[in-house]
Amino acid sequence: MADGNVRPESMERITTEALAQAFIDEQIKSIKAQVGDSKVLLALSGGVDSSVVAALLIKAIGQNLVCVHVNHGLLRKGEPEMVCKVFRDELKANLIYVDAVDRFLGLLENVTDPEQKRHIIGEEFIKVFAEEASKLQGIRYLGQGTIYPDILESEQGIKAHHNVGGLPPELNFELVEPVKLLYKDEVRVVGKALGLPDNMVFRQPFPGPGLGVRCPGAITRDRLEAVRESDAILREEFEKAGLAGKVWQYFTVVPDFKSTGIKNGKRAFEWMCIVRAINTVDVVECTVEPIEYDLMCRITDRITHEVPGINRVLYDYTPKPTGTVEYE
Ligand code: XMP
Repeated sequence: MADGNVRPESMERITTEALAQAFIDEQIKSIKAQVGDSKVLLALSGGVDSSVVAALLIKAIGQNLVCVHVNHGLLRKGEPEMVCKVFRDELKANLIYVDAVDRFLGLLENVTDPEQKRHIIGEEFIKVFAEEASKLQGIRYLGQGTIYPDILESEQGIKAHHNVGGLPPELNFELVEPVKLLYKDEVRVVGKALGLPDNMVFRQPFPGPGLGVRCPGAITRDRLEAVRESDAILREEFEKAGLAGKVWQYFTVVPDFKSTGIKNGKRAFEWMCIVRAINTVDVVECTVEPIEYDLMCRITDRITHEVPGINRVLYDYTPKPTGTVEYE
């Protein structure tokens, strides 16, 4: 492993605001020393790692950081707005917002194979990002939210280093990876100390292909909207019930399948919404959160009455294995 990629044994675990502050001060110095007056480009998804890197880079180099937020249409309700509010309005970042919704949904039309869907989303993301990068002058550095488990996992051959892989070599960036020696819990402590909002810092894991893998089968705009709205209701009800920080991951899935129901005294042939809530340590094995009956009834009532196109709600009791967390 390269020297800079090994966490020294003497490095104290960042658990307090004071330790986070010391880390922030040190990183600001080292970022300034590394990039000087050059510009740094960063793909800002709104996830914890890229958000913390953005906030650190803004403190270190201000307007010389160029953030690109690609909205591929598969983000959760309110996420693109939150990224713009926090980074453009509050932290005054130099933020390029790319509305690529039609582009992604157009390419995904009638595509039913899960692997092909994932492939299209990944490839197109790189294309959009590379296009934005090629419009800019004088960018030498690429900021990345690599964290220590990413380095360990790529060393052990568990997964490819997801951030670097796909960019075209002619872009030829040098990397700026200020949180690469931190574990996830430390990144969150640093995020808090940087003043990022809790719903960004304590965000649950969210897959790169986003809601696309929770809309099994060919993605249509109306069913995707049903996934997005039901997910927002689930998150709201979990928050109210005090489960938001406790359950590891929870979301809704709306498969391409309809069943007969009744709405307002009339036959309603509509989709069903599956609720999934799991707990885990390492995501290799997961258990199912035992949602209380009353809470499940409230969630069901809201989703079936507030989300157009849904007449039933089901709870997925399948642990991993045999089910994976996501449906595709
Ligand atoms: P599975 O479905 O494999 O999911 O049991 C395990 C964890 O990984 C997340 N996940 C992804 N994360 N890109 C990501 O960054 C992806 O393509 C992806 N697919 C699944 C999933 O949400 C769960 O936390």
